[in-house]
Amino acid sequence: MNNDMNALAVKYGTPLYVYDFDYIENRYTTLKDAFAGKKSMINYAVKANSNLSVIQHLANMGAGADCVSIGEVRRAMDAGVDKYKIIFSGVGKRDDEIREALEKDILLINLESEAEMKRVEMVAKELNKEARISIRVNPNIDPQTHPYISTGLNENKFGVEIAMAKRMYIYANKSEFLNPVGIHFHIGSQLTKLDPIKEACVIVADLVRSLRAIKIDIKFFDVGGGIGVVYSDEVTISATDYAQAIFEATKGLDVTLLCEPGRYMVANAGAFFTSVLYEKVNDGKRFVIVDGAMNDLLRPSLYNAYHKIEAVNVEGEKTSADVVGPVCESGDFFGKGVQLPSLKHNDLLIIHSAGAYGFTMASNYNTRAKAAEVALEAGEDRLIRARETYEDQVRLELAYLK
Ligand code: LLP
Repeated sequence: MNNDMNALAVKYGTPLYVYDFDYIENRYTTLKDAFAGKKSMINYAVKANSNLSVIQHLANMGAGADCVSIGEVRRAMDAGVDKYKIIFSGVGKRDDEIREALEKDILLINLESEAEMKRVEMVAKELNKEARISIRVNPNIDPQTHPYISTGLNENKFGVEIAMAKRMYIYANKSEFLNPVGIHFHIGSQLTKLDPIKEACVIVADLVRSLRAIKIDIKFFDVGGGIGVVYSDEVTISATDYAQAIFEATKGLDVTLLCEPGRYMVANAGAFFTSVLYEKVNDGKRFVIVDGAMNDLLRPSLYNAYHKIEAVNVEGEKTSADVVGPVCESGDFFGKGVQLPSLKHNDLLIIHSAGAYGFTMASNYNTRAKAAEVALEAGEDRLIRARETYEDQVRLELAYLK
């Protein structure tokens, strides 16, 4: 981030999310280029960062969207994503969500159970439409990532096992109201090893071949998201190796390759700016108390996730400190044992790699207003979400006071 960070903090206030749109563009083109020469589509996983301007930025470059609620589908459409580039996934879709997705005529509804397939068929019948569907297959692969974000093992709630998927394809193929055109898997998030993805691709490509043998023609092969990023010193998967592994596994299949990266696109485009309120020492232990908190950026509290923390333009000898927020929970921390110089009121701290699953997992816990969001693009900065107010938070309750 080249812009003057202190100036941004003064201009927009803290806590603040700042996203580098040039970085996002670079990530998109790197991945898209890796798929060059094959039919492919990048369906950005909106859950990672669903700010409308972020989605619009990606849509302008040609990205599609992977959505997990009808709200995300609406966001994608509002931001200008072509309806034929939108996929709707998720283990539990309500009838009204299914209905709206069918009415909006999006590319695919991704099914995660047999029961859900029957619901989609029923709703499609009511609307007298044919639902384009894909089925999320669980290839039973250990993705070697954090258990909370691992999704491709049979013990996880996601998708259906291969044998069930096959039965579902046969059923869907006979149904007047279902058109099985896609296949999907997603084995986990923050993947740093390519082998589990390769293995999953091979298993699922075999299923596509066996479906083809019984005249069920799969056109969209969706490998999910999950490409890991660098938070500290991880060695991650390169875009070219990723694409090549997928090409290899799908050799000979005439399919459009879909992938659903979220974190890869936005994690390292974003930083969370927070100002120092106070320092204190309890029984020899140093705490830096900041104006941001777990309600703004939950990843450290929820996953014990590491985010690099730096003080901006503060010199001096560094000692170890816990960086904590004002929320009334011991779990409210951004970093433990962080090496920081001595800090005073209003010094600025930058929490890195906060562009993915930062703002989207924010809450109003402790009646704290959600942070503002700013985009940096071609040397300019602009507000893309205003800071929430107290009035915004109580709007839906005030009317009910007696
Ligand atoms: N596709 C599906 C079906 C998914 O479930 C996910 C993420 C993605 C794509 C995008 O995955 P990505 O490329 O971002 O790894 N809150 C957690 C991450 C949860 C991921 C959930 N699913 C975190 O902060 O690490």
